[in-house]
Amino acid sequence: MTKEPSGELIRIEDVHKTYHIGDMKVHALRGFSLSIERGTFVAIMGPSGSGKSTFMNIVGCLDKPSSGEYYLDGVSISKMHRDQLADIRNKKVGFVFQQFNLLARTTALENVELPLLYSEEKDQKEFKERAMKALTAVGLADRSDHHPSQLSGGQQQRVAIARSLINNPQLILADEPTGALDSKTSVEIMAIFQRLNHEQNISIVVVTHEPDIAHYADRIIVFKDGKVLSDEPVPEPRNAAKELSEWPVDEDDEEEPAA
Ligand SMILES: Nc1ncnc2c1ncn2[C@@H]1O[C@H](COP(=O)(O)OP(=O)(O)OP(=O)(O)O)[C@@H](O)[C@H]1O
Ligand SMILES: [Mg+2]
Repeated sequence: MTKEPSGELIRIEDVHKTYHIGDMKVHALRGFSLSIERGTFVAIMGPSGSGKSTFMNIVGCLDKPSSGEYYLDGVSISKMHRDQLADIRNKKVGFVFQQFNLLARTTALENVELPLLYSEEKDQKEFKERAMKALTAVGLADRSDHHPSQLSGGQQQRVAIARSLINNPQLILADEPTGALDSKTSVEIMAIFQRLNHEQNISIVVVTHEPDIAHYADRIIVFKDGKVLSDEPVPEPRNAAKELSEWPVDEDDEEEPAA
């Protein structure tokens, strides 16, 4: 598994984020700088309230810094208008959340297609093909017509990952993607992220509270009080696919084939 980093994807320069609630100011990010190379897999850790999600929102162009600069793929984001931000976000970033955020009354395939409804093209057949390809990439081609309630937590998170892939993003941002999953399912999700990272050179940033999960990444950044407390490479990242292949067989773990 060799990966060649190929230039800077994310550059943060002295970024601050202050929220105003009535007369109160909350300093969610208090000024730090960092750079992330294209094709890296980064884990973000740190206590509750340390600014991890605020950081992810800025990196994902969902929000802008109060001061400082943010460059995504060489483009300055800090002074962009809302619609420009949305455009960049749709083209470059995929999001995965702890609670999957799938629509309950639609199939896996339709959930994956959803971001395409905002695109300018309107080729329904192509939408279906792309969604099917993304579902195949996460190993769920055979569940495309299932509704979320007919899928396990891990399968729902895989649908959410397929949805994040639909616009061929350069970057996937996942905020506690394994927070609602058991340990084996969590490793399965990390295996998918590692595969996307290695095979497609997609950059991945995962927020996690679990040190075990963070060690699937190449680099761990720890936040504290809105700043970077530490930022270290992982000398030998864990290999999720290998661990799964050696996972002890437990019949209770076996998934029941649904149909
Ligand atoms: N929209 C908002 N309005 C006001 N304050 C906010 C907002 N979002 C976050 N904050 C505050 O900013 C600080 C950082 O919050 P953030 O959500 O980034 O933390 P976090 O590290 O993701 O925590 P957790 O591990 O609990 O998810 C907290 O004090 C939080 O209360
Ligand atoms: Mg958070």
